[in-house]
Amino acid sequence: MMQSLKKISDLQGKRVLIRVDFNLPITEGEAADGSGWRIKSVIPTLEYLSKNGAKIIIISHLGRPKGKDFNFSLYPIFLKLKELWRGDGLFFAQDVFGPDVESQINNLKDGEAVLLENLRFYKEEEENDESFAEKLSKYGDVFINDAFAASHRAHASIVGIPNFLKSFAGFLMEKEIAVLTAIRDKPRRPLVLVMGGAKAETKLKLVRHFLDKSEAIILGGVLANTLFLAKNMDIGASVVEEDLLDNAKKLNITLNNLHLPVDVLTSKSLITPNDLKVRPAGLVGPDEFIVDIGPDSVKLFSKIIGTAKMVIWNGTLGLTEIPAFKKGSLEIANAISQISGEKIIGGGDLINFLDEENLIGKMSYVSTGGGAMLEFLAGDILPGIEALSRQIASDATNAIDYQTERDRDNK
Ligand code: 3PG
Repeated sequence: MMQSLKKISDLQGKRVLIRVDFNLPITEGEAADGSGWRIKSVIPTLEYLSKNGAKIIIISHLGRPKGKDFNFSLYPIFLKLKELWRGDGLFFAQDVFGPDVESQINNLKDGEAVLLENLRFYKEEEENDESFAEKLSKYGDVFINDAFAASHRAHASIVGIPNFLKSFAGFLMEKEIAVLTAIRDKPRRPLVLVMGGAKAETKLKLVRHFLDKSEAIILGGVLANTLFLAKNMDIGASVVEEDLLDNAKKLNITLNNLHLPVDVLTSKSLITPNDLKVRPAGLVGPDEFIVDIGPDSVKLFSKIIGTAKMVIWNGTLGLTEIPAFKKGSLEIANAISQISGEKIIGGGDLINFLDEENLIGKMSYVSTGGGAMLEFLAGDILPGIEALSRQIASDATNAIDYQTERDRDNK
């Protein structure tokens, strides 16, 4: 049984180590989070901790840096958090470890918070290194996981820390689990899945899972490109995930409920519109990139969506960062907005896009999880949730022993 953070007795002066998911795209040094949707979603937990006098140590990853690459610094997120939550009593530590970080943590007053630098600057995070998790756990008296969106990753800060600290679920984590469990266990049918964006690996697995559990699966983005290639259709210079080709080939893409775009928008550049053409799927020139779905695909997909009582959408269908490449996703968003059934969306890029287009309010539920949401809905037990549930039975004594030992060492 997972425990709610409300179960933490007497937060006053307690050091609370909290894992959040601030994994957001950074554009020109600024956090691209639309109206701050993803950051705002953990503020109720942070506010509760602060009001109750906890000393808050916030940890997160951002992107997939190889080592200490400050293009992936959490500093822009810190600035946004300051703007959205509080200007005072919130600090940024320029590293995860070191004497400066320790003194920043030790100097926190009750109710104050510090955000540490990107956990993925250390390869030990993704390797789920035990001593890395133990080192992190020393920052807190208790641990809260409020990073539902990263809980499908068996990384040190997600599954390792609960081995060392008494651990609780944050408010966002609790909400995600409650809502998504209801959707998973009682989906409304017809169910239509719409999947685009990158990170095709997780999505391919889910496509397989949902093939016989939904009326239709609509695909765009890198996943569609990879499936086109698996069918030996020309995709020009488009982005694919080569590693997935073999798996993609095994998928029965002739099934009636799996829908690939019938036409696509191409450009000779991914960064700026260059010689835009609408091409039938499979007839893309060697120097062209697929950047969006085409108008016939929009018509076909909208018709399918119109029949749904529930739509689950993850990932945009084109490169929506460029206005000329966002029409397909926008029209699909409008089609989804119009259905009277449930509209469930997830994934950072998609949330940002809908937020910017003022369409987020039209959705029934917005999950902060991209891959995590899909894996959860597919019935997988997320390692982060499992770690929170697993440790409770034995942790009471372990945590007390550990704490007593540490108190003794500190004397
Ligand atoms: C997400 O945004 O989906 C999570 O933060 C996980 O990010 P990752 O795919 O880089 O592990």
